Amino acid sequence: MKSFCIVHLSDLHISDREDGKTSNLRNALIRDLVDRTQSQSLKIDAIAVTGDSVDRGGSVGAFQIAEEYYKQLIHALNIEKENVLFVPGNHDYPRRTAIQVLLENTSTDDFYNKTLFTEHWETFQARQKSFQKMVCNVTGVNDLENTEYGGSIRTIQTDNGLIRFVLLNSSWACTGERDFSNLFVGKWQLDELINLNRKLPPANLVLGLMHHPIDWLNIADQKLVVENLTQPHGINLDAILHGHIHTGRLDYTLNPDRGLLSLVSGVGYPDKSNRGIDQFKVSNCRYAIYNFDADSGMLTVQLRVSNENGSFAADTLLYDLGKETGSFTIPYKLKLSLIEQGSALEKK
Ligand SMILES: [Fe+2]
Repeated sequence: MKSFCIVHLSDLHISDREDGKTSNLRNALIRDLVDRTQSQSLKIDAIAVTGDSVDRGGSVGAFQIAEEYYKQLIHALNIEKENVLFVPGNHDYPRRTAIQVLLENTSTDDFYNKTLFTEHWETFQARQKSFQKMVCNVTGVNDLENTEYGGSIRTIQTDNGLIRFVLLNSSWACTGERDFSNLFVGKWQLDELINLNRKLPPANLVLGLMHHPIDWLNIADQKLVVENLTQPHGINLDAILHGHIHTGRLDYTLNPDRGLLSLVSGVGYPDKSNRGIDQFKVSNCRYAIYNFDADSGMLTVQLRVSNENGSFAADTLLYDLGKETGSFTIPYKLKLSLIEQGSALEKK
Protein backbone atom coordinates (compact mmCIF):
# COMPACT_ATOMS: atom_id res chain seq x y z
CA MET A 1 0.00 0.00 0.00
CA LYS A 2 1.42 3.40 -1.03
CA SER A 3 0.63 5.45 2.04
CA PHE A 4 2.29 8.71 3.08
CA CYS A 5 2.13 10.39 6.49
CA ILE A 6 2.51 14.18 6.68
CA VAL A 7 2.38 16.38 9.80
CA HIS A 8 0.96 19.85 9.15
CA LEU A 9 2.17 22.68 11.39
CA SER A 10 1.60 26.37 10.89
CA ASP A 11 1.62 29.81 12.48
CA LEU A 12 3.72 29.19 15.60
CA HIS A 13 4.36 32.98 15.72
CA ILE A 14 7.46 32.59 17.88
CA SER A 15 8.69 35.75 19.61
CA ASP A 16 11.65 36.42 21.92
CA ARG A 17 9.33 38.30 24.28
CA GLU A 18 6.76 35.55 24.87
CA ASP A 19 5.84 34.06 28.24
CA GLY A 20 6.39 30.46 29.39
CA LYS A 21 2.85 29.39 28.43
CA THR A 22 3.73 29.59 24.76
CA SER A 23 6.83 27.43 24.98
CA ASN A 24 4.83 24.98 27.15
CA LEU A 25 2.25 24.81 24.36
CA ARG A 26 4.91 24.08 21.75
CA ASN A 27 6.40 21.37 23.97
CA ALA A 28 2.91 19.89 24.48
CA LEU A 29 2.55 19.75 20.69
CA ILE A 30 5.75 17.72 20.38
CA ARG A 31 4.65 15.38 23.21
CA ASP A 32 1.26 14.87 21.54
CA LEU A 33 2.90 14.11 18.20
CA VAL A 34 5.27 11.58 19.79
CA ASP A 35 2.29 9.96 21.57
CA ARG A 36 0.31 9.76 18.31
CA THR A 37 3.16 8.25 16.35
CA GLN A 38 4.01 5.69 19.03
CA SER A 39 0.45 4.64 19.89
CA GLN A 40 -0.52 4.31 16.21
CA SER A 41 2.86 3.03 14.98
CA LEU A 42 2.95 5.90 12.50
CA LYS A 43 6.04 6.59 10.47
CA ILE A 44 6.07 10.29 9.63
CA ASP A 45 7.41 10.92 6.14
CA ALA A 46 7.52 14.72 6.26
CA ILE A 47 6.58 17.79 8.28
CA ALA A 48 5.01 20.65 6.33
CA VAL A 49 5.29 24.08 7.97
CA THR A 50 3.00 26.54 6.19
CA GLY A 51 4.41 29.83 7.40
CA ASP A 52 4.54 32.38 10.21
CA SER A 53 7.17 30.51 12.20
CA VAL A 54 7.99 33.85 13.86
CA ASP A 55 5.86 36.83 14.85
CA ARG A 56 5.91 40.36 13.36
CA GLY A 57 8.90 39.95 11.07
CA GLY A 58 10.97 38.05 13.64
CA SER A 59 13.89 39.37 15.65
CA VAL A 60 17.24 37.57 15.55
CA GLY A 61 16.25 35.99 18.90
CA ALA A 62 12.86 34.83 17.57
CA PHE A 63 14.43 33.12 14.56
CA GLN A 64 16.92 31.42 16.90
CA ILE A 65 14.12 30.08 19.14
CA ALA A 66 12.24 28.88 16.05
CA GLU A 67 15.33 27.15 14.69
CA GLU A 68 15.95 25.39 18.00
CA TYR A 69 12.30 24.32 18.22
CA TYR A 70 12.26 22.74 14.75
CA LYS A 71 15.53 20.94 15.53
CA GLN A 72 13.97 19.64 18.77
CA LEU A 73 10.93 18.45 16.79
CA ILE A 74 13.11 16.67 14.21
CA HIS A 75 15.03 14.94 17.00
CA ALA A 76 11.87 13.93 18.93
CA LEU A 77 10.24 12.43 15.83
CA ASN A 78 13.48 10.96 14.53
CA ILE A 79 12.99 12.14 10.97
CA GLU A 80 15.50 13.37 8.39
CA LYS A 81 15.99 17.14 8.58
CA GLU A 82 15.57 17.42 4.78
CA ASN A 83 12.04 16.08 5.21
CA VAL A 84 10.86 19.28 6.87
CA LEU A 85 9.41 21.72 4.34
CA PHE A 86 8.76 25.42 4.85
CA VAL A 87 6.99 28.21 3.02
CA PRO A 88 7.14 31.82 4.22
CA GLY A 89 4.22 33.58 5.88
CA ASN A 90 3.64 37.31 6.10
CA HIS A 91 5.08 37.38 9.66
CA ASP A 92 8.30 35.71 8.50
CA TYR A 93 9.15 38.88 6.56
CA PRO A 94 9.77 42.29 8.15
CA ARG A 95 7.45 45.10 7.08
CA ARG A 96 9.30 47.41 4.69
CA THR A 97 8.21 50.87 3.60
CA ALA A 98 9.93 50.25 0.25
CA ILE A 99 7.51 47.36 -0.46
CA GLN A 100 4.47 49.47 0.46
CA VAL A 101 5.62 52.34 -1.75
CA LEU A 102 6.42 50.02 -4.64
CA LEU A 103 3.00 48.32 -4.47
CA GLU A 104 1.17 51.65 -4.25
CA ASN A 105 2.97 52.90 -7.35
CA THR A 106 2.81 49.74 -9.44
CA SER A 107 -0.12 48.60 -11.53
CA THR A 108 -0.79 44.87 -11.16
CA ASP A 109 -0.51 44.71 -14.97
CA ASP A 110 3.19 45.50 -14.51
CA PHE A 111 3.56 42.17 -12.74
CA TYR A 112 2.73 40.43 -16.02
CA ASN A 113 5.69 42.15 -17.75
CA LYS A 114 8.68 39.93 -16.99
CA THR A 115 11.34 42.63 -17.38
CA LEU A 116 9.55 45.06 -15.08
CA PHE A 117 8.72 42.34 -12.59
CA THR A 118 12.31 41.07 -12.50
CA GLU A 119 13.46 44.59 -11.68
CA HIS A 120 10.90 44.89 -8.86
CA TRP A 121 11.74 41.41 -7.60
CA GLU A 122 15.08 42.67 -6.23
CA THR A 123 13.12 44.84 -3.80
CA PHE A 124 10.62 42.11 -2.93
CA GLN A 125 13.20 39.42 -2.25
CA ALA A 126 15.47 41.61 -0.09
CA ARG A 127 13.42 40.87 3.03
CA GLN A 128 13.54 37.06 2.72
CA LYS A 129 17.05 36.58 4.14
CA SER A 130 16.36 35.83 7.84
CA PHE A 131 13.62 33.35 7.00
CA GLN A 132 15.72 31.63 4.37
CA LYS A 133 18.67 31.41 6.75
CA MET A 134 16.47 29.70 9.36
CA VAL A 135 15.21 27.19 6.76
CA CYS A 136 18.79 26.39 5.65
CA ASN A 137 19.94 26.00 9.26
CA VAL A 138 17.07 23.62 10.08
CA THR A 139 16.96 21.55 6.87
CA GLY A 140 20.42 21.98 5.35
CA VAL A 141 18.65 22.83 2.06
CA ASN A 142 18.49 26.12 0.19
CA ASP A 143 15.03 26.00 -1.37
CA LEU A 144 15.68 28.96 -3.64
CA GLU A 145 18.63 27.43 -5.48
CA ASN A 146 16.68 26.07 -8.44
CA THR A 147 14.11 28.75 -9.20
CA GLU A 148 13.65 32.50 -9.19
CA TYR A 149 10.68 34.52 -7.90
CA GLY A 150 10.39 32.85 -4.48
CA GLY A 151 8.96 29.40 -5.17
CA SER A 152 10.63 26.01 -5.13
CA ILE A 153 10.08 22.28 -5.51
CA ARG A 154 11.43 19.54 -3.30
CA THR A 155 11.04 15.80 -3.78
CA ILE A 156 11.63 13.37 -0.97
CA GLN A 157 12.14 9.64 -1.18
CA THR A 158 10.15 7.56 1.32
CA ASP A 159 9.78 3.81 1.88
CA ASN A 160 6.62 3.90 -0.26
CA GLY A 161 7.74 6.17 -3.10
CA LEU A 162 8.28 9.82 -3.96
CA ILE A 163 6.49 12.81 -2.46
CA ARG A 164 6.83 16.11 -4.32
CA PHE A 165 6.32 19.37 -2.45
CA VAL A 166 5.59 22.49 -4.47
CA LEU A 167 6.58 25.41 -2.25
CA LEU A 168 4.55 28.46 -3.22
CA ASN A 169 5.46 31.91 -1.94
CA SER A 170 2.27 33.92 -1.40
CA SER A 171 3.91 36.38 1.01
CA TRP A 172 6.31 38.39 -1.16
CA ALA A 173 3.77 41.20 -1.71
CA CYS A 174 2.31 41.24 1.81
CA THR A 175 2.15 44.53 3.68
CA GLY A 176 -0.32 43.83 6.50
CA GLU A 177 -3.83 45.23 6.70
CA ARG A 178 -4.53 45.32 2.96
CA ASP A 179 -3.47 41.73 2.25
CA PHE A 180 -6.87 39.98 1.90
CA SER A 181 -7.62 39.40 -1.82
CA ASN A 182 -4.57 41.48 -2.75
CA LEU A 183 -1.68 39.02 -2.67
CA PHE A 184 0.13 37.29 -5.51
CA VAL A 185 1.93 34.10 -6.27
CA GLY A 186 2.35 35.53 -9.74
CA LYS A 187 2.70 34.27 -13.28
CA TRP A 188 6.51 34.19 -13.19
CA GLN A 189 6.78 32.12 -10.02
CA LEU A 190 4.23 29.66 -11.44
CA ASP A 191 6.01 29.46 -14.82
CA GLU A 192 9.31 28.70 -13.08
CA LEU A 193 7.71 25.97 -10.97
CA ILE A 194 5.94 24.39 -13.95
CA ASN A 195 9.18 24.34 -15.98
CA LEU A 196 11.09 22.81 -13.10
CA ASN A 197 8.35 20.23 -12.48
CA ARG A 198 8.48 19.10 -16.14
CA LYS A 199 12.11 18.03 -15.72
CA LEU A 200 11.36 15.86 -12.68
CA PRO A 201 10.25 12.22 -12.59
CA PRO A 202 6.61 11.52 -11.65
CA ALA A 203 5.87 11.36 -7.91
CA ASN A 204 3.34 9.25 -6.01
CA LEU A 205 1.99 12.25 -4.11
CA VAL A 206 2.20 15.94 -5.09
CA LEU A 207 1.40 18.50 -2.39
CA GLY A 208 1.34 22.28 -2.59
CA LEU A 209 2.33 24.38 0.43
CA MET A 210 1.22 28.02 0.51
CA HIS A 211 0.80 30.18 3.60
CA HIS A 212 -2.34 32.02 2.52
CA PRO A 213 -5.59 30.26 1.59
CA ILE A 214 -6.37 30.85 -2.08
CA ASP A 215 -9.01 33.55 -1.38
CA TRP A 216 -6.23 35.81 -0.02
CA LEU A 217 -4.81 36.14 -3.56
CA ASN A 218 -6.13 38.76 -5.93
CA ILE A 219 -8.92 37.53 -8.22
CA ALA A 220 -6.75 37.15 -11.34
CA ASP A 221 -4.11 35.29 -9.37
CA GLN A 222 -6.67 32.95 -7.77
CA LYS A 223 -7.71 31.83 -11.24
CA LEU A 224 -4.10 31.54 -12.42
CA VAL A 225 -3.05 29.50 -9.40
CA VAL A 226 -6.01 27.08 -9.45
CA GLU A 227 -5.71 26.53 -13.21
CA ASN A 228 -1.96 25.99 -13.16
CA LEU A 229 -1.99 23.76 -10.11
CA THR A 230 -4.81 21.47 -11.15
CA GLN A 231 -4.00 20.85 -14.82
CA PRO A 232 -1.97 17.88 -16.04
CA HIS A 233 0.03 20.28 -18.29
CA GLY A 234 0.76 22.49 -15.25
CA ILE A 235 1.34 20.95 -11.84
CA ASN A 236 -1.30 18.44 -10.97
CA LEU A 237 -1.47 18.86 -7.19
CA ASP A 238 -3.16 16.21 -5.06
CA ALA A 239 -3.85 18.74 -2.29
CA ILE A 240 -2.63 22.09 -1.00
CA LEU A 241 -1.79 22.94 2.62
CA HIS A 242 -2.26 26.43 4.08
CA GLY A 243 -2.04 28.34 7.35
CA HIS A 244 -2.55 32.03 8.16
CA ILE A 245 -6.16 32.07 9.41
CA HIS A 246 -5.39 30.35 12.74
CA THR A 247 -8.14 27.79 12.50
CA GLY A 248 -8.86 24.48 10.82
CA ARG A 249 -10.61 24.40 7.45
CA LEU A 250 -10.93 21.78 4.72
CA ASP A 251 -12.38 22.85 1.36
CA TYR A 252 -12.77 21.43 -2.10
CA THR A 253 -12.50 23.62 -5.18
CA LEU A 254 -14.25 21.44 -7.73
CA ASN A 255 -15.53 21.59 -11.28
CA PRO A 256 -16.42 18.74 -13.68
CA ASP A 257 -12.85 18.47 -15.00
CA ARG A 258 -10.74 18.87 -11.91
CA GLY A 259 -10.59 19.68 -8.25
CA LEU A 260 -8.28 20.72 -5.47
CA LEU A 261 -8.48 19.90 -1.78
CA SER A 262 -7.28 22.72 0.52
CA LEU A 263 -6.21 21.82 4.05
CA VAL A 264 -5.80 24.63 6.59
CA SER A 265 -4.34 24.22 10.09
CA GLY A 266 -2.36 26.29 12.56
CA VAL A 267 -1.54 27.50 16.05
CA GLY A 268 -1.72 31.30 15.93
CA TYR A 269 -2.47 34.19 18.25
CA PRO A 270 -5.94 35.18 19.55
CA ASP A 271 -8.41 37.14 17.46
CA LYS A 272 -7.22 40.68 16.77
CA SER A 273 -9.85 42.06 19.16
CA ASN A 274 -8.39 40.00 22.03
CA ARG A 275 -4.73 40.36 21.26
CA GLY A 276 -2.46 42.50 23.40
CA ILE A 277 1.20 43.03 22.63
CA ASP A 278 3.04 39.70 22.67
CA GLN A 279 -0.04 37.81 23.80
CA PHE A 280 -0.59 34.33 22.42
CA LYS A 281 -3.37 31.85 22.84
CA VAL A 282 -2.99 28.41 24.39
CA SER A 283 -6.43 27.01 23.49
CA ASN A 284 -7.83 26.35 20.01
CA CYS A 285 -4.34 25.89 18.60
CA ARG A 286 -4.35 23.30 15.87
CA TYR A 287 -2.17 20.93 13.99
CA ALA A 288 -3.03 17.92 11.80
CA ILE A 289 -1.70 14.54 10.74
CA TYR A 290 -2.55 13.37 7.23
CA ASN A 291 -2.30 9.87 5.80
CA PHE A 292 -2.55 9.92 2.02
CA ASP A 293 -3.29 6.51 0.47
CA ALA A 294 -2.07 6.87 -3.12
CA ASP A 295 -3.64 3.56 -4.18
CA SER A 296 -7.21 4.46 -3.19
CA GLY A 297 -6.93 8.28 -3.47
CA MET A 298 -8.28 8.59 0.07
CA LEU A 299 -6.94 10.84 2.82
CA THR A 300 -7.28 10.12 6.55
CA VAL A 301 -7.13 13.35 8.54
CA GLN A 302 -6.41 13.51 12.28
CA LEU A 303 -7.29 16.94 13.66
CA ARG A 304 -5.65 17.90 16.97
CA VAL A 305 -6.55 20.93 19.06
CA SER A 306 -5.32 22.39 22.37
CA ASN A 307 -7.55 22.98 25.42
CA GLU A 308 -7.35 25.81 28.00
CA ASN A 309 -4.44 24.08 29.74
CA GLY A 310 -2.49 24.00 26.49
CA SER A 311 -2.74 20.20 26.11
CA PHE A 312 -3.62 18.66 22.76
CA ALA A 313 -6.47 16.23 22.12
CA ALA A 314 -8.70 15.09 19.25
CA ASP A 315 -10.60 17.98 17.64
CA THR A 316 -14.14 16.58 17.68
CA LEU A 317 -15.93 19.91 17.16
CA LEU A 318 -14.66 21.17 13.81
CA TYR A 319 -16.52 18.74 11.54
CA ASP A 320 -19.40 16.30 12.12
CA LEU A 321 -17.37 13.67 10.29
CA GLY A 322 -14.81 13.78 13.10
CA LYS A 323 -17.23 14.11 16.01
CA GLU A 324 -16.20 10.79 17.60
CA THR A 325 -12.42 10.77 17.27
CA GLY A 326 -11.37 13.95 15.43
CA SER A 327 -10.37 11.66 12.58
CA PHE A 328 -12.07 10.94 9.26
CA THR A 329 -11.36 9.72 5.73
CA ILE A 330 -12.20 11.71 2.58
CA PRO A 331 -11.21 11.52 -1.10
CA TYR A 332 -8.29 13.67 -2.21
CA LYS A 333 -7.90 12.58 -5.83
CA LEU A 334 -10.78 14.66 -7.03
CA LYS A 335 -12.15 13.13 -10.15
CA LEU A 336 -15.89 12.98 -10.53
CA SER A 337 -15.61 9.27 -11.36
CA LEU A 338 -14.12 8.68 -7.92
CA ILE A 339 -16.84 10.69 -6.22
CA GLU A 340 -19.49 8.78 -8.18
CA GLN A 341 -17.90 5.54 -7.02
CA GLY A 342 -18.07 6.84 -3.46
CA SER A 343 -21.78 7.67 -3.70
CA ALA A 344 -22.48 4.30 -5.34
CA LEU A 345 -20.78 2.59 -2.41
CA GLU A 346 -22.87 4.62 0.01
CA LYS A 347 -26.12 3.40 -1.60
CA LYS A 348 -25.16 -0.28 -1.12
FE1 LIG B 1 -0.05 34.82 8.35
